[in-house]
Amino acid sequence: MTKVLVATEKPFAAAAVNGIRKIVENAGYELALLEKYTDPNDLLKAVADADALIIRSDKATKDVINAGKKLKIIVRAGAGYDNIDLATATEKGIVAMNTPGQNSNAVAELAAGMMVFMARAQFKGGSGSELKGKKLGLHAYGYVPRMLAHIAKGFGMEIYAYDPFIPEANITKDGIKVVKNLEELYTTCQYVSLHIPANEKTKKSINYNLMSKMPKGGTIINTARKEIINEDDLKKILEERQDFKYISDIAPDCHADLLKYEARYFSTPKKQGAETSEANVNAGLAAANQIVNFIKNGDKTFQVNK
Ligand code: 3PG
Repeated sequence: MTKVLVATEKPFAAAAVNGIRKIVENAGYELALLEKYTDPNDLLKAVADADALIIRSDKATKDVINAGKKLKIIVRAGAGYDNIDLATATEKGIVAMNTPGQNSNAVAELAAGMMVFMARAQFKGGSGSELKGKKLGLHAYGYVPRMLAHIAKGFGMEIYAYDPFIPEANITKDGIKVVKNLEELYTTCQYVSLHIPANEKTKKSINYNLMSKMPKGGTIINTARKEIINEDDLKKILEERQDFKYISDIAPDCHADLLKYEARYFSTPKKQGAETSEANVNAGLAAANQIVNFIKNGDKTFQVNK
């Protein structure tokens, strides 16, 4: 019998697991669950007889893929797929997919909340500032920033974006100003929200050159990946500028060094952007449906290792 393994170190909400089970069992397949595992060897064992794998930020390494002797498809229930060894998957003829857009609203709401949190002195009682009339820069314009822009308009913010992969007209039609390069985005905007993936080109790309260009009160909101920040440069700018702020959904490696800036720095203890029941249901069910459609009909929509 076809076996679908859901391996989630950070489990889906129960409603999502129930929905996934229904889809998998209605298709005549078997569902296996590996939740809250702490030892990567548990994943190696569990994947051994699985035909399909659903993961979140769980690492589908070369070893995991090689251990999955029957694997045909891996679906990352979420947006970023930097946790899948795509080269190995491709070499083995395994299809890798993500579920674009499915958990984006949750991440956008968190980014908006993070802006408010930083603008209002981290809810500690001190005097803060308002978002109304301030400039928000969207570094990339995928699903999450589009939803964030919608929320930020409600705050009365002026919105700018830079995304060389998206035609300008597709951004301006949403009432957003397009800047001609990253330098202009960071120079213009007091708030910059990061939405680029982590890959060889983007790692450490948010550097001193960009951060130092931000106007007074410059605040970076990172709900993307910790790897895209140049941490030495982040330490330098926080040290140099008493007005500069950084908030991140997952601690940077240099977290301990930044605690002395607690009034201007905050990171969530564990990545929680997509940690809502709604996002879990949307992404989890999409992943299960994509697997069934692939196995039954050969549908490869959302494949990321073409
Ligand atoms: C994503 O890439 O979809 C987000 O970072 C969410 O990741 P998570 O499923 O591990 O919470």
